[in-house]
Amino acid sequence: MRISAITGFLGLAVAQAVYQSAPFYLVLKSRNSSLNGAYLSPCHEGAAESALCPTKEPPTDLSYSQFYYNTSAPDAQDPFGTLGWDLPIGEGSDGISVPQPMIFQYNDASNVAVPLFFFGNPTSVEFGSGDNQMTIFSFRDDTKPLSLDNGNYSAHLSRWYVCDTIPTWYLYQTLAWAMGKAKPQNPSCQKVEVYRKWA
Ligand SMILES: *[C@@H]1O[C@H](CO)[C@@H](O)[C@H](O)[C@H]1NC(C)=O
Ligand SMILES: *[C@@H]1O[C@H](CO)[C@@H](O)[C@H](O)[C@H]1NC(C)=O
Ligand SMILES: *[C@@H]1O[C@H](CO)[C@@H](O)[C@H](O)[C@H]1NC(C)=O
Repeated sequence: MRISAITGFLGLAVAQAVYQSAPFYLVLKSRNSSLNGAYLSPCHEGAAESALCPTKEPPTDLSYSQFYYNTSAPDAQDPFGTLGWDLPIGEGSDGISVPQPMIFQYNDASNVAVPLFFFGNPTSVEFGSGDNQMTIFSFRDDTKPLSLDNGNYSAHLSRWYVCDTIPTWYLYQTLAWAMGKAKPQNPSCQKVEVYRKWA
């Protein structure tokens, strides 16, 4: 029963149409002027694996720093959309691009997760309809005693930071996410907010 329900669900998910948004940049807001207004640009962490690194220079290779948002309906206020990026491989007319979702790399020993464009299970994000802020939707508050009737709790969380991270073998300053409401244990982390700016 359980198995057939799950495969049925997966079948449905695969059959669902995916709508891709127009391209946009991701821009930081921060109290620190050296991060405020910085663009997030994919930075190479390994084969077909990129983190999001802040850069104060407006991107020179514009399309390289453009992202999109995949949802189940056009222009949806979808709490479960996917942030996407097309990894360019090769040059010019021989070049192809490989769509990659943003996933979180979790570290069992840390409360800091590192967003990466890679292959795997996407982390759902949402964008505020008015302010274009990128947040993560939460429908359960486990800081309070849990009950199956969650009282229609919902929250739009912004636990984004910029931290020194080593998701593979390079030490870069990258976008990061604090797991839970505690401060990130990584002392280099600086609080930021992330906004979508249409290209
Ligand atoms: C502001 O950010 C820069 C770059 O990450 C960092 O070197 C600097 O220490 C930060 N300043 C403050 C006051 O946190
Ligand atoms: C986004 O949606 C488009 C259109 O369905 C699809 O081609 C692309 O692979 C998707 N990108 C990601 C990262 O899933
Ligand atoms: C949650 O919302 C549903 C539908 O709007 C409503 O019937 C229900 O009473 C709400 N539950 C609580 C605890 O507010």
